[in-house]
Amino acid sequence: MDSSIKSQPVLFFIFGGTGDLNKRKITPALYNLFLDNWLPEKFAIIGNGRSELTDTAYRKKLLEGTNEFSRKGKVVKKQWDEFASKIFYQSANVSDDKSYKHFKETIEKYETEWKQKPVIIYYLAVSPNLFPIIGEHIAKNNLAEESDYTRIVIEKPFGHDLESAKSLNELLATIFDEKQIYRIDHYLGKEAVQNILAFRFSNAILEPIWNRNYIDHVQISVSEKLGVEERGEYYETAGALRDMIQNHLLQLVCLIAMETPINFSADEVRNRKVDVLRAMRRFKPEEIKKVAVRGQYGPGWVEGKQVPGYRNENDVDPNSNTETFAAIKFFVDNWRWHDVPFYVRTGKRMHQTASVISIQFRDVPHCVFQADSTDNWQQNRLIISIQPEMSIRLQVQAKRPGLEMVLNPVDMIFKYEEATETPEAYETLLLDIITGDQTLFMRADQVGFAWELLMPLLNSWDSKKSLSFPNYSADSQGPEIAEALIAQDGFHWFTLPIKNKL
Ligand code: BG6
Repeated sequence: MDSSIKSQPVLFFIFGGTGDLNKRKITPALYNLFLDNWLPEKFAIIGNGRSELTDTAYRKKLLEGTNEFSRKGKVVKKQWDEFASKIFYQSANVSDDKSYKHFKETIEKYETEWKQKPVIIYYLAVSPNLFPIIGEHIAKNNLAEESDYTRIVIEKPFGHDLESAKSLNELLATIFDEKQIYRIDHYLGKEAVQNILAFRFSNAILEPIWNRNYIDHVQISVSEKLGVEERGEYYETAGALRDMIQNHLLQLVCLIAMETPINFSADEVRNRKVDVLRAMRRFKPEEIKKVAVRGQYGPGWVEGKQVPGYRNENDVDPNSNTETFAAIKFFVDNWRWHDVPFYVRTGKRMHQTASVISIQFRDVPHCVFQADSTDNWQQNRLIISIQPEMSIRLQVQAKRPGLEMVLNPVDMIFKYEEATETPEAYETLLLDIITGDQTLFMRADQVGFAWELLMPLLNSWDSKKSLSFPNYSADSQGPEIAEALIAQDGFHWFTLPIKNKL
C-alpha cells in the first residue's frame, strides 16, 4: 500500500446520504475499505439529506444497510463502532447557501483538528436534476477552489442525450478542473472488467491474434433476471439504451477494442478508449432496422412466481414505449477491427443474470480430420465472464480419450473464486477517488462520444412507437428478433451454463 494513503486525511460529503445508493453501496464499501485498512488514519464521513436526523439515528440506518448489503456479511460490533464514530449527519437543503456555509465550517473544523488540509470528496448520490444545483452552490461558496484537494463524484445517468450531457459537462467545466471530476461507471470497478486490461496487455501471446485476421466476431451480453423493480419512474425516462448501453456496454467494447496505451496513466488509457468510440461506425437512419432491435418484457413466471410485464410495473405507463432489451451490431472502423462485428445485447427479466464477453476466433484454414471426428466442432472462443461467475475460459478442441479420433471442445478455465476474495466495484472506485486515480472514470469526451454514437438510435426509437411491445416474456432469452439479428450472420448468442443466484 502507498503510505501516502494513510497519512492524507479525507473528508467525504455524501449528498443523498439517506438514499438507497449510500445504504447499499457507498457505506458498505467504505466500511470494507476501513476493515481492510485502506482508509487514511484521519477521515470523516458527513452524510447529508433533507430530513432531520441525529448522528446516532443516521449511523443506525447505515448499520442496517451495511449488515444487509456488505459482501463481508454482518459487521463486527467493535470494528463498526470505531468506523461509525467517524460518520456524522447534517441536514441540508442543497439549494440553500446556508447549508454550504455549514459544510465550510465543518471543513475548517477538521483542518484545525487534523492540523492538515484534507482531501475533500463531494459525492453526489442524488437525482441528476440536482447535479447542476449542487455544483453551482459548491462553486459559489468557494468549496472547490483548490483543485488538488477537492473532488466531485457524479453518478450516472450523465445526461439524457448528447445535448444534456454536453451542457452538464460545460457547466462542470466552469466550476471544476477535469482532474477533479469523477464520473462513475460502476462496471469499470468490477474486478473481472479491470482484468480485461491486465489480461490483454500483460500477455504477449494475445496481441498477434487480437485483430480481424484471427477474430471472427465479439459478443457482449449483459442479461439480468430482475425487472425494473421500484425504479419505474427513472426507467421510463431511460430504457436499456440509455441505462446500460451508453455507459457499461460501450465501455466493455472499448476495453476489448482499444489499442495498447503507452502507459497505464489515466489519460493514456482514456485516450485509447476514446479512439474506439470515435472509430465506431455511425448509424445511418435507414440502416437502423438491420443493426439494432429493441424489446420489452411481458408478464411471465420466474422461479415459480408470477411476475408482471413491464407495462404493469409501478410508475410505468401502461402503453409505455420504453425498451427493456436492446441488441445492436456495432463495427469499429479501424485497421485492427475492420468488418469484425461486435454484437452487444442487454435486457431485463431474462432467463439468466450473466455478463459475458465471448470472443470467437476464425476457423482453422483447413480441417485435416474426417467428418465424423468433427461432429462437435467449435471455433475457438475466449470467454470472459464478469458475473455472477468471474472467470476466463479458453475453448479449444481436444481429442476425446478413447481409441477413436473424436474431437470435442474443452475449456481451459481460470476462476476467481479459486484465487482470492474480490472487492466490490465501489470499493475499488472509492479508493481510486481517495488516491486521485481517474483511470476507471469517464472523461467528459468519453461520455460525449458515447452519446453521439447512440443518438440516431435514440431518436429513432423515441420517435417511433413499437407496435410489437411487449415482445418477450419474462424468463426468456429476449425477443426473437434479437436471435434473428445475429442468426442472419450465421451465429447465435452465446450463454454460459451458469446456475443463477440473485
Ligand atoms: C445500473 C442500471 O447502472 O446497472 C441498472 O441502472 C442495472 O438498471 C445495473 O440493473 C446493473 O448493474 P450490475 O452491477 O448489477 O450488473
